[in-house]
Amino acid sequence: MRRDHHHATGAGVARAELAQAPPAVEQRDGQAAGPLQALRERLAFLRGFIAHPQQVGSVIPSSHVLEQRLVRSAQLQRARCVVELGPGTGGTTRAFLRALPASSQLLAIELSEDFAARLRTSARDPRLAVVQGSAEFVGRFLAELGLPAPDAVISGIPFSTMPREVAGRIAAEVARLIAPGGRFVAYQVRPHVAAYVTPHLGEPRREWEPINIPPVRVFTWTRHG
Ligand SMILES: C[S@@+](CC[C@H](N)C(=O)[O-])C[C@H]1O[C@@H](n2cnc3c(N)ncnc32)[C@H](O)[C@@H]1O
Repeated sequence: MRRDHHHATGAGVARAELAQAPPAVEQRDGQAAGPLQALRERLAFLRGFIAHPQQVGSVIPSSHVLEQRLVRSAQLQRARCVVELGPGTGGTTRAFLRALPASSQLLAIELSEDFAARLRTSARDPRLAVVQGSAEFVGRFLAELGLPAPDAVISGIPFSTMPREVAGRIAAEVARLIAPGGRFVAYQVRPHVAAYVTPHLGEPRREWEPINIPPVRVFTWTRHG
């Protein structure tokens, strides 16, 4: 996969740099972080939260139990193209890579420059493209990378704290892009995402994951047709 990185600024998106192709010897990664890396990531995540609390929306990354629930809800074992909105420091991203087939592609879209830069070095995998920018532009990112309609979109971005127009645009765009039979999975502390997405994709399956700090709701929509 080509790995173009983008920066979303205000009204538009500009291609800012062309990332270097991964070295030929690079292995499929997707390995869980070791204890030291996990600690560094938690600190980086906390710093990100302190700098932008509303954007990051949580003080620590998702639990492994939540990661596995997301993998099941999105049916990643048989997905070909997946989009992650808000990968943060990459714990969820690596869990998705472990679950995804070898021939799949994962596009991770992260608003924070710091998190996106970390993810590019910590989760090197030929199936992964990391884009720095807003989830609002998911359609443009998919098109520029030549990726097909996603079988699954998984989102941890906080719909409850972003401007309503932005949340509405992201919901509409995801609903428009997702492949027929595909899934949109959103994990959230608060329920706001449902009001934005349900008009487009109908009623979601609603679950609750208590083994996470804080406990979160998991909404799963399936695009029929
Ligand atoms: C709750 S954290 C989830 C991080 C990680 N996926 C996890 O579960 O540990 C939400 C992430 O969404 C990112 N984010 C917030 N708004 C965004 C947007 N409009 N587009 C892309 N990423 C966004 C934040 O920077 C943050 O990294």
